[in-house]
Amino acid sequence: MAMTTPLRFDETRYQSAQVTIDGQVLRYRAFLGLDYVTMPVDAIQQLNVFVPEPYFNNGQVNGYTRVTAPIFMPNTVGDYLPGPRDFPGNQESFSRGATILQALMRGYVVVSAGLRGRTSKTAQGEYSGKAPAFIIDMKAAIRYVKFNAGWLPGNPARIVTNGASAGGAIAALAGASGNADFFETALQDLGAAPATDDIFAVSAYCPIHNLEHADAAYEWQFNGLTEWHQQHCTVVNNQVKRTSSSGELTVSEQRLSSELKSAFVPYLNHLELKDHAGNPLQLQADGSGSFRRFIDDYLTVSAQRALSTGNDVTAFPGVKVNNGRVASLDWSAYLRGITRMKRVSAFDALDLSSPEASLFGSRLIAARHFTTFAQEHSAVPAQLADTSLVAAINPLTYLMAHQSQIAQHWRIRHGAADRDTAFAIPVILATNLQNHGLDVDFALPWGRPHSGDYDLSELFDWIDNLCQTAT
Ligand code: DHB
Repeated sequence: MAMTTPLRFDETRYQSAQVTIDGQVLRYRAFLGLDYVTMPVDAIQQLNVFVPEPYFNNGQVNGYTRVTAPIFMPNTVGDYLPGPRDFPGNQESFSRGATILQALMRGYVVVSAGLRGRTSKTAQGEYSGKAPAFIIDMKAAIRYVKFNAGWLPGNPARIVTNGASAGGAIAALAGASGNADFFETALQDLGAAPATDDIFAVSAYCPIHNLEHADAAYEWQFNGLTEWHQQHCTVVNNQVKRTSSSGELTVSEQRLSSELKSAFVPYLNHLELKDHAGNPLQLQADGSGSFRRFIDDYLTVSAQRALSTGNDVTAFPGVKVNNGRVASLDWSAYLRGITRMKRVSAFDALDLSSPEASLFGSRLIAARHFTTFAQEHSAVPAQLADTSLVAAINPLTYLMAHQSQIAQHWRIRHGAADRDTAFAIPVILATNLQNHGLDVDFALPWGRPHSGDYDLSELFDWIDNLCQTAT
């Protein structure tokens, strides 16, 4: 009997497909439902590979060949729920099928791995997808790709992750935590391929990360705004339905908001971030300071860019335009305009109702707190997740501790109208990376709410710039 190496990519088992996009014919091969670990615990732990057809006939696409093409690894995770493997033309609401098609048009090899999430369960009814399962699976998929160097088309030294929101956090964490020890045992237990998991580049849209500091950052931004406005999306018959709700923070929530706001100041200061000229970014006890002006500047640059391309930026309160220039942006008025979305605490919800509390549950527990603040003020009987686990899924941990191989190239976008997390959170990530001398393309696109993949041609130009010239 012929021996086959476990997890070896088999290029003979594929389906051919052809689609016409904007009058252009795209032909590709689809390799579907491949195991990326030898001992999966959930059926979701499989991946799909899509390869432009010309790479099997010595052809080129967009200047790339079978061996030089970037390997694009988008994930479908939202809300820290399970994120199934995806495919072009997928009509499911979570799908990024259009992203995959566009990536193939650019000549990228696309690897879409299914990842466990906070509601995943075993047949015995135990939770199997609580933190850090999502990143274990992402790393296992990356190891699969690198293990198959030479078998799988594409350049394993040019892996680019992509995701939005919780999926953006995964993309960023994969980029920050390459080969970190913390995950090794869990990867071995699943039978992950013997390979490294560091990557080349990260594309993260509105990454919901740095969860243990996100509550304080949120109140630093929104303290004083007591009305909250939420939109809930539910999927009924594959149609996304939106319902709105709003309310007022209770007196007790307002008191906690002020406590959290104060707690953000020492956190931010201890990061010792620097602006582009090397000047310290700091906050005063009242929450004002150079770090806030730094965020103002990003918002103003974003408004200016939108204004220059013909948008009415004054539709957003707090923006003053003078002679075709954005003259000023009033922080308080602007925030009142975009409104607060979340209650207090925004992420470690006091009643454990948030997706993040659920993420930090355990095999047998649906949800746990992950900050001592929420644990101390909990509205329900609750346990506290291990500090080391919470830190292990925070990309910032690896930037501070130098215990990993960090991706060289980062593209981070967070909409200027996104209130799912504070602006400070992506700004801290981008600035920390910049301060480490890494290549960072960061912006707060004007008017954008919480979303991703809205500027694919720019994203793919960015990738091409890195990969077409690099040797
Ligand atoms: C997502 C959004 C959130 O506001 C959050 O707290 C966690 C995840 C998301 O869209 O993935």
